[in-house]
Amino acid sequence: MPKKNTASSWIKIREAKLTDVWKISKIERDSFEKPWGIDAFIYEFFKKHSRLWVIEYNSELVGYSVVWIIKDEAYIANIAVAPSFRRKGLASFLIRHIMNEAQNLGCSSIVLEVKRSNIAAINLYKKMGFEIVGIREKMYSDGEDGLIMEKLL
Ligand SMILES: CC(C)(COP(=O)(O)OP(=O)(O)OC[C@H]1O[C@@H](n2cnc3c(N)ncnc32)[C@H](O)[C@@H]1OP(=O)(O)O)[C@@H](O)C(=O)NCCC(=O)NCCS
Repeated sequence: MPKKNTASSWIKIREAKLTDVWKISKIERDSFEKPWGIDAFIYEFFKKHSRLWVIEYNSELVGYSVVWIIKDEAYIANIAVAPSFRRKGLASFLIRHIMNEAQNLGCSSIVLEVKRSNIAAINLYKKMGFEIVGIREKMYSDGEDGLIMEKLL
């Protein structure tokens, strides 16, 4: 059931379909310096532990997440919202959905990794109750550290 966000906007989260990969891939390229290729997204559809959700805003696909369910842990492998639809609470809405689904699937925590310089994402995760639980030094090819963040469910 779609949810009314403001007086005139509807947001809805649904499972991704294979035919969504072109739109997902466009948002990915607009969001990351080193984006996943379209083949990487296609591969996710066939992985048993992978769950892909998309978020629609007034029926337009404007964001997505890729989550790996590994035993009792959910790992957010990828998440992005199209640049012109940011700061509308859409990623927060998607993460709340991931929390509910992960809990229903028996997970006790959600984990992710984020670049130290990605202030928008770090603020988002902190707002959603995630805490920094570790640092992977020089994890990225540009020498940046990765922060491990976790939310207990
Ligand atoms: C990170 C991202 C997913 C946030 O999506 P969004 O839909 O704009 O997020 P929301 O509107 O739900 O924002 C929730 C909170 O996150 C924080 N936030 C979001 N964008 C921010 C920004 N540009 N600067 C600072 N804080 C920001 C704020 O605390 C915000 O709450 P507020 O709007 O009440 O201040 C989006 O910026 C994005 O797609 N970035 C590129 C991809 C990416 O970095 N993904 C994460 C990889 S780990």
